[in-house]
Amino acid sequence: SFMHKLTGIADLADCLKQQLGILDVVLVPLDSDKAISVKNQIGKEAARLLEQHFAAQPNVAVTGGSTMAAIAKELKGEKTYPALRFIAARGGLGEDVLHQANTIASAFAGKTGGSFKTLYLPDHLSEEAYTMMMKEPLIREMMDLYEQTDLVVHGIGNAQEMAVRRQSTAEEVEKITEGGAVSEAFGYYFDAEGNVVYRIRSAGIQLEQVQKAPAIIAVAGGRSKAMAILSYFKNAPKHTVLVTDEGAAREILELT
Ligand code: G3H
Repeated sequence: SFMHKLTGIADLADCLKQQLGILDVVLVPLDSDKAISVKNQIGKEAARLLEQHFAAQPNVAVTGGSTMAAIAKELKGEKTYPALRFIAARGGLGEDVLHQANTIASAFAGKTGGSFKTLYLPDHLSEEAYTMMMKEPLIREMMDLYEQTDLVVHGIGNAQEMAVRRQSTAEEVEKITEGGAVSEAFGYYFDAEGNVVYRIRSAGIQLEQVQKAPAIIAVAGGRSKAMAILSYFKNAPKHTVLVTDEGAAREILELT
């Protein structure tokens, strides 16, 4: 196939950008499924990209995950951006503390010298609790901040994997499975066509707020995430910049 002619990383990135129909793709060599250093490389590229946005786009919503944590490690710790405000995109406590959006927001702020806003809520609220919570002033304040987001930085996960990682209830797993969910991002689960099939009932940024943010950076790599990346980008905002790796890119282009 024509794939074999795509030897250079730049060609591959360009091809993926066309395929996904998005603003840009930044690609690092190799596959993060096989070496942790590749995930760190994704973090490094994303950190450099982010730094280009800091002066003009100070309100940054961040999600959780190990790829997001890799960005935090790679940000320069020069504390030169006091005007930055990092907002945890979700209140979820379902994940390992190091990978929660709250932890990532505080880590980004620590490195850059900015401030941060966190939200600590369980991942799985009952409908009544959710309705009540949404009326709380503290939650309303977060919702207002989401409305002012200039830049969203988020990971993309495999739906089934994320459901397990968040210790989802049997009821939730059923909805995710029945809905044919393939990918997950900022608490939303998407099917193969990019339709939302389930949303975690916890306070967090709304899909509409992500879509209208002036800038969006998505980070996800590894061959095992190809289907998830493809699913998410079926319906994702076209102005997203994806930072990924060769492993994911080659698999996506083979699948399409
Ligand atoms: O929402 C997606 C997940 O947060 C991605 O997590 O970067 O650890 O795969 P990960």
